[in-house]
Amino acid sequence: MHTVKAIYPGTFDPLTNGHLDLIARGAKIVDELVVAILRNTEKGEPLFTVEERREMIFEATREFDNVSVTTFDGLLVDFARQQGAKAVLRGIRAISDYEYEFQMAMMNRKLNPEIETLFMMPAEKYTYVSSRLIKGVFRLGGDVTALVPPLVMERLRAKGSLPAE
Ligand code: PNS
Repeated sequence: MHTVKAIYPGTFDPLTNGHLDLIARGAKIVDELVVAILRNTEKGEPLFTVEERREMIFEATREFDNVSVTTFDGLLVDFARQQGAKAVLRGIRAISDYEYEFQMAMMNRKLNPEIETLFMMPAEKYTYVSSRLIKGVFRLGGDVTALVPPLVMERLRAKGSLPAE
C-alpha cells in the first residue's frame, strides 16, 4: 500500500491556532504527520524550552491519531529521510511568506530531491497570526486567547511578564 508520511517542521515558540489549523488540514491529507520542533534555532533565545513546546503540541494534537510530536537537529531533509518521510509540510499565510518558503523548498530539493514540500494555507482567520506576534502582543497586555490553544494560554500566563525580545 502507498502511504505518505510528512514532517511538519518549525520552531513553534509557541504553537498557535494557525499551526494547529495547518496540522488538522495536513492530517487529513497524509497518512502520518510528524510535528518536528527544531532544537537549535537561529532565532535567538526561545521563550519556551523544547520540552515545554513538545508538551503543548502533544496536548493540543491528542485528538489526531495520525499526528505525533518530536524534535530534531541538523538538516531537515536528513531528519525526514531518517523518519522515512516523503514530504515536508509548510504553511503559507501570505505572499510575504512565499519568498522564504520558496527558497527553503528549493534548497531542500537540492539537498534531497526525493523529498517534496507541500504547502497548505491556514484558515483565513489565522493568516495574520505568528508566534512572534503572539508573544509581542501578550507581552504588552493584549488578549491572545482566541489565537492559541488553551494550554499555550495557560503557559503564557504562568510565565508572568515575558522578557523583552
Ligand atoms: O517555524 P520556522 O522557524 O519558520 O521553521 C523553520 C525551519 C525549522 C523549518 C527551518 O529553519 C529548518 O528546516 N531548519 C533546519 C535546518 C535546515 O534544514 N536548513 C536548511 C533549509 S533551507
